[in-house]
Amino acid sequence: MSDPAVDGVEPLLSAARLAIERAYAPYSGFRVGAALLADGRLVTGVNVENASYPLSMCAERVALGAMVDAGLRRLEAVAIVTAAARPTPPCGACRQALWEFGEQAIVVSETTAGLRRTWTLAELLPDAFGPGDLDR
Ligand code: THU
Repeated sequence: MSDPAVDGVEPLLSAARLAIERAYAPYSGFRVGAALLADGRLVTGVNVENASYPLSMCAERVALGAMVDAGLRRLEAVAIVTAAARPTPPCGACRQALWEFGEQAIVVSETTAGLRRTWTLAELLPDAFGPGDLDR
């Protein structure tokens, strides 16, 4: 059955599948590719680890930085690709960071084996704190 909301993420998933190859994850070995659709444009990110482990950056937030730097603000969809056994959901910190720009965003995660899950960001971060709480 075709679902427009999900079909629209195919180009995003393709971009995330390519991005995962560029991940820098020598410490965890857990490579993550992310792609965002924002203001109708696509940007990607990968996780970037560091020998000082806590400095490591998640793919989703690396992609958010690229999105903002490209002048894009309205986040519509997020795609994540990993080689994990189950589709990887964004970590808690990334959920909060994504919320800032995409309260309506959908999140789709796929494994390299082809398992897929889709959520709304609101499902992943219920009762979120956001710009509205600061009257922004
Ligand atoms: N990671 C992401 O890039 N995104 C997620 O949603 C989950 C975790 C990265 C951080 C770290 O480089 C590696 O995966 C293992 O936690």
